[in-house]
Amino acid sequence: MIPFSTKVDKIEESQTIAITSLARKLRAEGKNVISLSAGEPDFPTPENVKLAAIKAIQDNFTKYTQNEGIPELREAIAEKFRVENRLNVKAANILVSNGGKHSLFNALQAICNPGDEVIVPAPYWVSFPEMVKLADGVPIILRTSEEKGFTFDAADVERLLSDKTKAIIINTPSNPTGAVISEQSLRDIADLARKKNFYIISDEIYEKIIYDGNKHFSVGSVPEASRLVITASGVSKAYSMTGWRIGFMAADEEIIKRAAKVQSQVTSNASSISQAAALEALRGAQADVEKMRLAFQKRRDLTIARLASISGLTVGRPGGAFYFFPSVKGLFGKSYDGKSLKGSIDVAQFLLAEAQVTLVPGIAFGSDDHIRISYAYSERELTEALDRIAAAVSGLK
Ligand SMILES: Cc1ncc(COP(=O)(O)O)c(C=O)c1O
Repeated sequence: MIPFSTKVDKIEESQTIAITSLARKLRAEGKNVISLSAGEPDFPTPENVKLAAIKAIQDNFTKYTQNEGIPELREAIAEKFRVENRLNVKAANILVSNGGKHSLFNALQAICNPGDEVIVPAPYWVSFPEMVKLADGVPIILRTSEEKGFTFDAADVERLLSDKTKAIIINTPSNPTGAVISEQSLRDIADLARKKNFYIISDEIYEKIIYDGNKHFSVGSVPEASRLVITASGVSKAYSMTGWRIGFMAADEEIIKRAAKVQSQVTSNASSISQAAALEALRGAQADVEKMRLAFQKRRDLTIARLASISGLTVGRPGGAFYFFPSVKGLFGKSYDGKSLKGSIDVAQFLLAEAQVTLVPGIAFGSDDHIRISYAYSERELTEALDRIAAAVSGLK
């Protein structure tokens, strides 16, 4: 056979997408599966946003747009970043892409050369290391611990710096841990980036899903480091618009030009209709965003004690996003059906088989001692799923 790309063969398939598809398949076969594996809000997209998209279609706003995004949307995003995130940006600093994932991909393509090192704190979102590899970079994993709430600081970053360090990817609030990095740590890391000259790719897609009265802090707002920070966000999580595929980034114009060049040769503009919808999401009423945030916080509070009471699981209190990342180490060595549980994939398979609940094994996020449970589900589903998990776990030998 003619050889395929070795670069692509070294990339892992997204495990979260794989598990979600498996749950969908089992359900289609009539199995009563509860999925706690998806990374998307369960609410409908707000009505005003849907109407804006319908109007766009009726107005025949259905053709190619500017590659970088329509000017009104770029301006609305720049304004959002100025007002909410205190970034010093204008429309020329904004690139609209096909989802936050695409924004991050473009950003890495724009800055990486072969062999460049990109620091990725673990547990990480599944796509970070793979995207670094696709940009010919080398992911350097920064291990964090449960004891410190999966956070890290400038000293942890400094230990991993080398003359090949090109960037660090920071995701706060985090998928999969829900950890929120403190403003002080972000300021210190910005200071380190300025002194040692590396980029910070700040993935802030969960910026609006933050709890306990905490305020999201954008590292790009630190003036001394702002030229080094690429801020990526989007409408997927905050406005429950995962299927619309609109993400965006703010960065220095030289980075935007390069990222836009990559985009122009790969996808061109994001969907014209989705751009019209995103404009309404950003400029229209914001009440639904807060409603969803409060619902997630309530679900977290309702389910955390139940989860913690399951013997063999230990869980911290996530400060944002909509995921628990409990340790399942306490289950290792126990067995069901003659099989002994040895890692997170075994635990996920056991819970699918015995509780008919899908979760994502932590190994997909760089930790084999954990599983990821999404609580972007109704209280009824969450309660039933946790009851089933508790029953299955209590049957382990
Ligand atoms: C940490 C993180 N960044 C980026 C994204 C990408 O979002 P989008 O659906 O807008 O591509 C996700 C989606 O799951 C995410 O969890």
